[in-house]
Amino acid sequence: MYQCIACRGDLIDESPSTKICSHCGNIYPLINEISVFLLPDVFSSLQGFIIEMEETKSSFAKINDNLEDFERYSEPGILANRIGMIKKGMASNLDVLEKSCQPIMDFLQNCSGQDNTLAWGSVRSGFSFHDMLPYFYQDWFGTHDFADVKNLFGKTITEHCKDRESVAVLGAGACGLLHSIADNFQVSYGVDLSLPTLLTAKQFIEGEPLTYHLQKADWQKVELTPPESTTKNIRYIASDVMNMPFKSASLSVVVTQYMLDIV
Ligand SMILES: C[S@@+](CC[C@H](N)C(=O)[O-])C[C@H]1O[C@@H](n2cnc3c(N)ncnc32)[C@H](O)[C@@H]1O
Repeated sequence: MYQCIACRGDLIDESPSTKICSHCGNIYPLINEISVFLLPDVFSSLQGFIIEMEETKSSFAKINDNLEDFERYSEPGILANRIGMIKKGMASNLDVLEKSCQPIMDFLQNCSGQDNTLAWGSVRSGFSFHDMLPYFYQDWFGTHDFADVKNLFGKTITEHCKDRESVAVLGAGACGLLHSIADNFQVSYGVDLSLPTLLTAKQFIEGEPLTYHLQKADWQKVELTPPESTTKNIRYIASDVMNMPFKSASLSVVVTQYMLDIV
């Protein structure tokens, strides 16, 4: 099904958790059952996600310092509730971020690679994992927006897709769309550049509740309940949509909600 994204060579299983290109030797690991197809070099690309998390951490630390300065020099009680919400929200979201990156850190601990800034840059999509948290709300909190998306895609598939073997959702993000159309196909692939986002979406879809604070809603707490477990055959792929591992003509349908205007 997959091919090397560097040379289009065939892949062979080097171990249950690693595929290797039979032609150029490029390595493609599986992290928590998510296939990782990143160039130019998987090890330093993965470090990009850790660096992204560290950047969010340090921006939160700066905000925290500023809030503490404000509290020190202002009258007691002024904006105390609001400041408390922000601090609590940031701390709780950092936990979510760290959890999402834990499988990546575990993987990196067991392998050696060289720092490569170009590779870090290749995983930057303009959406950090923290930027993606509102999309988890949109996809999984029963919003009208998502109901419209689900109806539109569901109706289009019913009317126009004769071949129901496989679908790929590009820029799958929080994976609400992927999950909602997966019943229509024998196998459904969720493709996104952000591995932390896919790790979180997969864990959620497989039954783990997700709690975080929504910055855009004054840092209010959001508790998302996973969908009922089903027999949907979903596979997750961390890859740039501009260079995916699918063999030519191997998919029945490709759908995307945002990729046409993002890429
Ligand atoms: C606006 S978000 C929406 C995602 C999804 N539709 C949802 O509701 O959660 C766009 C998504 O596209 C992903 N993305 C951006 N550029 C990408 C690229 N070149 N290849 C793969 N994914 C990309 C981001 O990581 C992000 O998850």
